[in-house]
Amino acid sequence: MVPLRATILSVLLVTAIIALTVSHHSRNSPSSAASTVAAESVDLRSSAHQAALAKHAHNASLGFGEIVYISMPDRTDRQDAMNLLASSSGLKLKLSPGVNGSDVSPKAIPDEAPQGIRPSVLGCYRAHANAWRYLLESDMDSILIFEDDLDWNPNIKNTMETLSMQMQNSKIRVKEPSDYERANAPYGLDWDILYLGSWRHGTHPDYRDVTQIWDDPDLPDSASLKGGSKYSLGQALRDYGLTDAELGKKRVLAPSYWTLKTTAYAITRQGAQRLLFLLSYVGNLKHGDIDQDITRLFEEGKLRGYTLTPPAFSQFKVGGTKDSDNVKEGTTTGGKGNLGGHNYFLKGSARQAMLDKLKLDNWEEYKRLREE
Ligand SMILES: *[C@@H]1O[C@H](CO)[C@@H](O)[C@H](O)[C@H]1NC(C)=O
Ligand SMILES: *[C@@H]1O[C@H](CO)[C@@H](O)[C@H](O)[C@H]1NC(C)=O
Repeated sequence: MVPLRATILSVLLVTAIIALTVSHHSRNSPSSAASTVAAESVDLRSSAHQAALAKHAHNASLGFGEIVYISMPDRTDRQDAMNLLASSSGLKLKLSPGVNGSDVSPKAIPDEAPQGIRPSVLGCYRAHANAWRYLLESDMDSILIFEDDLDWNPNIKNTMETLSMQMQNSKIRVKEPSDYERANAPYGLDWDILYLGSWRHGTHPDYRDVTQIWDDPDLPDSASLKGGSKYSLGQALRDYGLTDAELGKKRVLAPSYWTLKTTAYAITRQGAQRLLFLLSYVGNLKHGDIDQDITRLFEEGKLRGYTLTPPAFSQFKVGGTKDSDNVKEGTTTGGKGNLGGHNYFLKGSARQAMLDKLKLDNWEEYKRLREE
């Protein structure tokens, strides 16, 4: 009796496996496999699935729903530059127009904003708030927001793929990822803001050990990170527990606490909701400068962010009046031009790579052809 029952059971088992395999194959037809993954047919915890999801970092929006960039409508020079740079890196950007604060009605100013808030500061807040709203009006899970004076490492897609693998296996999350996150979100969705291009970095003094640390080949050399000021990248990295020998070799992801500049950051839907709720609806724009208010909300624990140190994106400075839209001047003065500009804390420069890629000596090529 026992052997017969065992045989029936194993036949049933084999049948079940065949049925599962067939349904797995039909679900993974080329058209459906690319975007969403059917949770019941794939092992969401397998490293093969994680690696495939991390590969989304190589798409035109770096694995986020979209990349939008904020630029004042009159800065067509910067828009040209951002379009050029993005196309040269295989990225797609969507313009989100900057706002002149003089056009914001006094009634629309957040209740707790400082008296006499400068139009440029107010306009900056409004432009970012419009980008947050754009996400909520869409059905995307997250967007990456750029300002219009950026540079990044030519290897940015690999950097983001590694970041995705790290975030899929994050030890610094408060909650386990949901199946939806495991299936669809290369960077998870457990954060409001993901800071990828900030300037000052500082950790919560009581939670310095809450870090995710990994080897990364695309970091600036340690000499450029070693500055000693309280909020230098070098000091931040030491506070996260890195030794001097590890500077320039390891990247750190940690809960955002002291993080300035809105150069490049991602937000989730929940992040967009919290930001609009706290800064617009409650009106808690106490400082006025959007990055200062966001970092205060991190310190108060009302927003959840992660900061990448060293950052993956940097401002690109050309000097002179072109670097700022806060001062309106008829003519530009003192700039070095795009060819003389520089970034901060990046290994290499996508702007430089673009230059090399577009360089041409047409007649020299004809000459060589004739000589052959
Ligand atoms: C890139 O990948 C993300 C995550 O899967 C996705 O939401 C987004 O639509 C993709 N973007 C493009 C341009 O394919
Ligand atoms: C904003 O608009 C005001 C009023 O139209 C104008 O005087 C000012 O120059 C504008 N500022 C910028 C930065 O465009």
